[in-house]
Amino acid sequence: MTTLSETVRQITGADSVALGREIQSLWSGYGVIQCAELRTVDAEGLSTNVPVVIKHIDVSAARTNPRGWGSDISHQRKVRSYQVEKTFYDCFSPQCNQLCLVPNLIAATEKLDEGGWVIVLADLNALGFDRRKSEVDQRDIQACLAWLANFHAAFLGNMADGLWPIGTYWHLDTRPDELAAMPSGPLKQSAEQIDQRLNGATFQTLVHGDAKVANFCFSDDDRDRVSAVDFQYVGRGCGMKDVAYFISSCLSEQAALRQQESLLNFYFQQLQIAVTARNPEVKFSDLEREWRELYPFAWADFCRFLSGWSPGHWKLNSYSDQITQSVLDQLHRE
Ligand SMILES: Nc1ncnc2c1ncn2[C@@H]1O[C@H](COP(=O)(O)OP(=O)(O)O)[C@@H](O)[C@H]1O
Ligand SMILES: [Mg+2]
Repeated sequence: MTTLSETVRQITGADSVALGREIQSLWSGYGVIQCAELRTVDAEGLSTNVPVVIKHIDVSAARTNPRGWGSDISHQRKVRSYQVEKTFYDCFSPQCNQLCLVPNLIAATEKLDEGGWVIVLADLNALGFDRRKSEVDQRDIQACLAWLANFHAAFLGNMADGLWPIGTYWHLDTRPDELAAMPSGPLKQSAEQIDQRLNGATFQTLVHGDAKVANFCFSDDDRDRVSAVDFQYVGRGCGMKDVAYFISSCLSEQAALRQQESLLNFYFQQLQIAVTARNPEVKFSDLEREWRELYPFAWADFCRFLSGWSPGHWKLNSYSDQITQSVLDQLHRE
């Protein structure tokens, strides 16, 4: 079996590869994400070192995941997610500009012998995006929302060929176990309708699909920009799915309620600038009206997943309850 450094050497064309620090192992033992340096020596004997990050997925090493949902469905979803991530970097990431920065793909391959992938990316730390945050301030939040707005504008109308037909890791069709585990009640009964409302939106784009704070890389020198990583659940969808989930990842219920209006205003301001520049023919007021109406639906859809996956999760709070209730009331009235 070819070693990881040899595979990386072959696909990047480097003269040698020095594996470095392991950043983390992947969920349920599906592999590892690791720093490395690609060393190339030119004809004059001058060597250059390029810092990279390798995402090495080894499906054969997968264990049953620690939360106990080690079903075949979850394994299949996971395997597909890595294929999607490779496709995203290969075919879609070149459309991302500096305002929705993603790491450059250096090389990627599918390892047919052991069932897995090797994805070699530029190391964002070397580009100054070396801060990871669990606590964010207003400026950090705005930098992430600006990234989302620019990403959504870049892929408006995209058909997501080779990605998830419907993005996000909590999408209903991919979560039958969690739906079955949900307590019965109006949210469970309306799960399908909420999903259809989101899928039926006129304006669709690509959603990142797991846009939590942990998947953004921050820079102290460039505080208004971030880079995103982790494109396993990218697919077609309404941009509000990313925005609602991002807010749920970094704000308390009180803050989410207090800041909802100003954060949405900021996101739509950024979206308008980006859409107008990329797609002047789009009637932005229609897009904004539709997506604002869908913001509560995106929350309710995520709460549907949480209440089956992890009842009592801290994100299920009075803010999310209130939003979900408003959606259920609206559906009841219609
Ligand atoms: N190209 C990169 N440059 C620097 N850091 C990275 C890069 N890609 C990933 N990382 C870091 O590794 C972490 C895990 O990568 P990610 O793709 O999110 O794996 P996982 O699917 O296990 O969450 C990220 O949160 C980020 O901090
Ligand atoms: Mg991640």
